[in-house]
Amino acid sequence: MTMRILHAAAEIYPLVKTGGLADVVAALPPALVRRGLDVRVLLPGLPGILNGMTRLKPVMRIGPVFGAAVVTLLIGRLPDSGLLAYVIDAPFLYQREGNTYVGPDGHDWSDNHRRFGLLGWVAAHIASGELDPDWRPDLVHAHDWHAALAPLYMAQNPGLKTATVLTIHNLAFQGDFPMDCLADLALPVSKLMPHGIEYHGRISFMKAGLVYANRITTVSPSYAREIRTPEFGCGLEGVLRDRGGDLSGILNGVDYTVWNPDDPDIAKPYHVDNLKGKKACKFALQSELSLPRQARSPLFVVVSRLFLQKGMDLLLAALPVLLREGAQLAVLGTGDYELEAGFRDAAAANPENVAVFIGYDEAMAHRFIAGADVLLVPSRFEPCGLTQLYALRYGTLPLVRRVGGLADTVVDATPENLQSDRASGFVFSDALSRAIGTCISEACTLYRNPGAWQQVQRRAMVQNFSWDDSAAHYETLYRSL
Ligand code: ADP
Ligand code: GLC
Repeated sequence: MTMRILHAAAEIYPLVKTGGLADVVAALPPALVRRGLDVRVLLPGLPGILNGMTRLKPVMRIGPVFGAAVVTLLIGRLPDSGLLAYVIDAPFLYQREGNTYVGPDGHDWSDNHRRFGLLGWVAAHIASGELDPDWRPDLVHAHDWHAALAPLYMAQNPGLKTATVLTIHNLAFQGDFPMDCLADLALPVSKLMPHGIEYHGRISFMKAGLVYANRITTVSPSYAREIRTPEFGCGLEGVLRDRGGDLSGILNGVDYTVWNPDDPDIAKPYHVDNLKGKKACKFALQSELSLPRQARSPLFVVVSRLFLQKGMDLLLAALPVLLREGAQLAVLGTGDYELEAGFRDAAAANPENVAVFIGYDEAMAHRFIAGADVLLVPSRFEPCGLTQLYALRYGTLPLVRRVGGLADTVVDATPENLQSDRASGFVFSDALSRAIGTCISEACTLYRNPGAWQQVQRRAMVQNFSWDDSAAHYETLYRSL
């Protein structure tokens, strides 16, 4: 019989996206469908999701629950993939201006425990067959803390045998709330102790998921190892070590129908056998950003959330090296006010070499990645990272820290790796501005040797991080359950 899988998540590209999670949730389910699985997605009824789906119709009236008077489970089709997705229409919880997680005042929505508790709760009740008599999953796959209560709600029904997988996309976000929020979550107080939702006197969605899911995955093999240590475990390393036998890393893939150097957003298409178009993309980006059109200066770019996770403070500190090398830097991102201001100041002080666009713009991200020579990803930690994978395909060499998924996907241009034609980018080890600076200088040195540079570009462009491989690993995991 065809295996039925329900993916529960808070974001999906292109409807609602704050980061790579949305890209994964858009691409993994169709890749599983291509393998013959019957996959549906469950999403919260955020404005972008309700507006972006087609043929939405009600499945079941649920409310009132979780503080909302009217809750209706809808089903419709996702754009692009055409996959079926359930949407929780709960206007009281989801119909708001602003970000998925954060209100206009810059603080997390104060009822996020209800907004995402409901997501896990609905997943559990779809699993039990109560909400859609026509479709019942064999396995619920929850993504990040937003959906991580699904396994706990499912455990409330001892008769329910549906398997569960929790994927950690970023352990730094755990969904922790004051203890009194438990009263809003339709959970018995007995779930608090000793191995449940309680975490240092608060409640933690992520911890509950880690305890109750049958299997835990994260998005790269290196991050799966790192999070068992205090340096990367964000306080949950003990729980993760306890579950060590059930924890594995499956690398994310790339949707090459969206990220390929013939995409409609870039100035000129190009190909691994003919890189002429890439030069046109670089000139177009320099013009767009009012940077001097110089072929000889390497153009470094950042396309990122601007947060400490991403090592953006270290990069700012390494900027003098980049300027000394005569290179250019272009930044596309939003995030911490201080980092945004730091990059703005750098652009104001060095208009010939630095350009900054503070904002979120999907088409611009394509133009940055196609037009650049080097993509900088100097993260302190990086569960997988997608932009370095996109950059590889565009012949834009990633300069990354040796951590998490970055370590698993970029091969440093050492003399030996150049010799054996394995190099695909630049890798440094220590989270220090000095280490980034040295690596930037090494990249600039290689750039002055066009033959060697193009060899690395070609190696980068033929890397294949397709979703088909990742989906095969997920299928094996599902079948083992
Ligand atoms: P994370 O999820 O930690 O932010 P990833 O590398 O996995 O990191 O994914 C980031 C995703 O968000 C990529 O698709 C990237 O292109 C996109 N992105 C990040 N910042 C911006 C921005 N300012 N404008 C457009 N896209 C962005
Ligand atoms: C998170 C991580 C990022 C990963 C993405 C998708 O946002 O920070 O490294 O690529 O999830 O899994």
